[in-house]
Amino acid sequence: MAEKMDDMPIKSIKELPALAGQSVTLRGWLYGKRSGGKVVFLLVRDGTGLCQCVVSAATPAAWDVARELTQECSLQVSGRVRADMRAPGGVELEVTAVHLIGGADDYPVSRKPHGVDFLLNHRHLWLRTPRQAAILRIRHTLIQAIRRFFDEHDFTLVDTPLLVPGAAEGAGTLFPVRYFDEAEAVYLAQTGQLYLESAAMALGRVYCFGPTFRAEKSKTRRHLAEFWMVEPEIAFAELPDLVEWAEAFIIYLVQAVMAERRPELMELGRDVDRLAAIQAPFPRLTYTEAVELLRSTEVHEELQAEWAADRQRLTRLREDLVEQEAQRAQARKRWQQEKWDRSIHDLREEIRALDEDLRTRPQHIEGARHFTWGADLGGDEETILSRRFDRPLIITEYPRGVKAFYMKPHPDDPRRVLNLDVLAPEGYGEIIGGSQREDNLSALKKRIAEEGMDPAPYQWYLDLRRYGSVPHGGFGLGVERTVAWICGLRHIRETIPFPRMMGRMTP
Ligand code: 4AD
Ligand code: MG
Repeated sequence: MAEKMDDMPIKSIKELPALAGQSVTLRGWLYGKRSGGKVVFLLVRDGTGLCQCVVSAATPAAWDVARELTQECSLQVSGRVRADMRAPGGVELEVTAVHLIGGADDYPVSRKPHGVDFLLNHRHLWLRTPRQAAILRIRHTLIQAIRRFFDEHDFTLVDTPLLVPGAAEGAGTLFPVRYFDEAEAVYLAQTGQLYLESAAMALGRVYCFGPTFRAEKSKTRRHLAEFWMVEPEIAFAELPDLVEWAEAFIIYLVQAVMAERRPELMELGRDVDRLAAIQAPFPRLTYTEAVELLRSTEVHEELQAEWAADRQRLTRLREDLVEQEAQRAQARKRWQQEKWDRSIHDLREEIRALDEDLRTRPQHIEGARHFTWGADLGGDEETILSRRFDRPLIITEYPRGVKAFYMKPHPDDPRRVLNLDVLAPEGYGEIIGGSQREDNLSALKKRIAEEGMDPAPYQWYLDLRRYGSVPHGGFGLGVERTVAWICGLRHIRETIPFPRMMGRMTP
């Protein structure tokens, strides 16, 4: 424990705005440093915020320490809190004493721009930047709100196993694990749902919330190998009830983040008006209607127009880049150069992403026009559909062939199932997948056989249909995809502290 200096109370940066005029001690890390003549400005972060600490040559002991401090060293500073409109948070600290706690030589993640691979390899340090901290806080608040929603609606939390004997969501994405000396492999859970169904028959309304594993062999911006999923399961619920639950749930989550994490959303540059628009009722389409929409002339013409506009945008971005590079060449001061470097780096990223997107655009446009009933809606189709609405889009009744064995077929048309997917707007795509479950014993046995699954591990699951079966259902919401949408992030990799994807296991 660092010593208390000058008997000043230890405070967090978050508390400072209320303490103007008082003397305090802060403990934290050096995020940045700037020198100007007879003052050194230390930008200190402590996990609750950033504070500018001003060290003057008139306090020689502090001055000598301050001049030697390096990025991300840990330190303790004492001084008087002074109101200053220009400072972040409206206050700064007039420093009287500085102590170095732990040094930091050549901190690798400088404030210069870095490529994504470099940042992911340094994820343990990358987390220290304000942007990453903002995402983690929003994730925290989202998770709290998820639990609160279910707790407020009489759901009981039931933890389901992570080591399971078989597939629930398709054998293709199972991670096998050696289990003691047994000959048969066991697997990491793709969902808690099957176990949760038995808990729903015991408790009525239940939810599970935990890590989920899928050996996704494609690298996309929407897929992780390890992600967190919350799954409610409700006895006596049918498809229309599930749609209502999903809508109320999403509205609750967005409201909670907006109410509690506005500064973090601002830090990320999120357009909050888009989130404020997330109100009932959400648009609803059946899969068949969604397919008709995808294939329509209206959508086709819109996609063509958008393609043309995006090509123009790419040209403009490239012109901007040339312009910014010229400005960079003329910049004299280091901070100016660094500012241009960051901006040029972001611009290059934007150009690269748009360029890549434009290359495959003709395929996507044709894919939508010729989409045939029966195929699964993939990422491209989800993007096209979800961008047309300013609220999440609920699509129901998919073809049976593209969905899991446990979904209940439509009573009037066995080619369709009673399921729902919820697609987040702005092109984010699926954040919720769920369904009413097959509750009839012989129908479920038949489905298991049709899928070529070994029925042995599912006998206990069939028991739920043998003893007091009732209509029931539920859904799963992916935390990371929801964080990506709410934060407005292009890629899912920043939404979890340590992402696990194909080809990434470090740190
Ligand atoms: O649609 P999915 O596969 O549904 C289920 O697992 C059901 N058993 C849920 C239920 O009915 N209880 O997955 C649900 C959600 C998706 O909508 C998505 O948000 C997320 O989980 N998800 C993934 N997130 C990140 N990476 C992946 N590889 C994901 N796969 C699914
Ligand atoms: Mg799904």
